[in-house]
Amino acid sequence: MTRPRVVVTRRLPERVEAAVAERFDAVLNETDAPMPRAALAEAMREADALLCTVGDRIDAEVIGSAPRARLLANFAVGYNHIDIDAAKAAGVAVSNTPGVLTDATADIALTLLLMAARRAGEGERMVRAGAWEGWAPTQLLGTEVSGKTLGVIGMGRIGRAMAARCHYGLGMKVVHYNRSPVADPGVPSRQLGAVEDVLREADFVSLHCPGGAENRGLISAERIALMKPSAILVNTARGEVVDEPALIEALRERRIAGAGLDVYAEEPKVPEALRALENVVLLPHLGSATRETREAMGMKAFENLAAFFDGRDLPDRVV
Ligand code: GLV
Repeated sequence: MTRPRVVVTRRLPERVEAAVAERFDAVLNETDAPMPRAALAEAMREADALLCTVGDRIDAEVIGSAPRARLLANFAVGYNHIDIDAAKAAGVAVSNTPGVLTDATADIALTLLLMAARRAGEGERMVRAGAWEGWAPTQLLGTEVSGKTLGVIGMGRIGRAMAARCHYGLGMKVVHYNRSPVADPGVPSRQLGAVEDVLREADFVSLHCPGGAENRGLISAERIALMKPSAILVNTARGEVVDEPALIEALRERRIAGAGLDVYAEEPKVPEALRALENVVLLPHLGSATRETREAMGMKAFENLAAFFDGRDLPDRVV
């Protein structure tokens, strides 16, 4: 029996590549260079499945109308880079990797919250530049986090993990907005009726909702204007959830105190205007970037591939 051909779009942890290569006719990406659109489209036409990642923009044109590929096993929980409707229309199944990156991503949200609150990026840049002239009572004063209010937008797995860290670890109060009622957030937290309510009330706003059309521009100029001047925005969700130019403007004019960002509207492009600001911490989409988590994500994608080609139900079906 010929083995299904699986194109793996980027380098993955060794154990994952070995598992995929043992079970499938695997086409690995030895150079780790992002695959151009034409190569992704060719893979859709010539492989039985793709193991793809957040950097691969798989739109309707790439999917094509009659692809040979039957499954996009996505190496991520977020799938806003895949045109889900087009996949469905072309009869291509999509799976993702929920659950295994919750703690790693919440850790990065917490890292950003603390770095922005305590001006850690500014301090690090000062030391590295050789510009530190010694301790001073009024130097780089940040803001206390204990006793402050965290506002979580999107109280799913990662939102709840962030809430737990902030409440139990830092003594913060928590409020949240979620599309549907959250029966047990696992943390004492008040569910508010609208995103606006969270923005008005929170000292720190952390975004944990999905990307995609329904949340594009959710944190708009009008909504940013509702935030306290002392507030800090943390985004480890998707760049498109925030109106990036509006955020840059608000940070530049100090209408909010700061931001911590792991994701951007047009990755890997980070606007020069954002890079020029001191009151923002910028990370290169590190949310799930631990060895343990990336391996677990890869094995989850592999399990979805194996289930699919064994004729079993997809454990993590998106469509
Ligand atoms: C990473 O960004 C993910 O969605 O898993």
